[in-house]
Amino acid sequence: MRKLIAGNWKMNGVQANLPQLDTLAKAHDNASVDVVICGPATLLGRMVATGLTIGGQDCHPITSGAHTGDISAPMIADTGATYVITGHYERRTDHSENDALIAAKTAAGWDAGLHVILCIGETEAQYRNGETLDVLRRQMDHSIPDAATAETTTIAYEPIWAIGTGLTPTPDEIATVHAALRAHLTARFGASGTAMRLLYGGSVKASNADDIFALPNVDGALVGGASLKAADFSPIITALE
Ligand code: G3P
Repeated sequence: MRKLIAGNWKMNGVQANLPQLDTLAKAHDNASVDVVICGPATLLGRMVATGLTIGGQDCHPITSGAHTGDISAPMIADTGATYVITGHYERRTDHSENDALIAAKTAAGWDAGLHVILCIGETEAQYRNGETLDVLRRQMDHSIPDAATAETTTIAYEPIWAIGTGLTPTPDEIATVHAALRAHLTARFGASGTAMRLLYGGSVKASNADDIFALPNVDGALVGGASLKAADFSPIITALE
């Protein structure tokens, strides 16, 4: 699998921000890594038109029906987007999403032909209590469906306390966690688990990208704030190449 750098615009972005994507598309049209922007649902079609690979940030577990305000995986695929995020901490918290629902959303993403970036991560209290690996293994066991493959699924480790805070685990801590995630995925999915991409997310920026990308079992990053402007995101893409 090629390495992957994914931007998550979260609840940001209006048409006036689209030129940022044109700049990125021009600067990285020959990138040796996969570059994806996961945008707001309102802009997905317009974002696809830039030529970049685009993803949604969430999908409903069923294809259509009476669910006001929700967006299904086939609707995301219909825009031309090819990725979707599931299990992001902000969905787990703001919308009380549990692992079973995230597993259903992940399967719905696959059914629509989308590649799923499935997020896991521990709270600050769990980190301080030394529970990180137990929490992550539990989340993986319950939110990744059995049918996951490296072609359909990427796992993003995002320590909740590192999201948008400017804090990150030490390189040793990231390496230890990613080694444990890799071992767990290989034990469960065999060769596909070994090949499945593992992203780090949480306060990634140009100044720490090199150090993070040098770590074993880090196959890229899921980037929030620093993905909003081409000038901030572009050096992170270059660091992964
Ligand atoms: O999904 C990306 C994310 O939650 C990290 O956000 O702003 O810390 O890069 P940020």
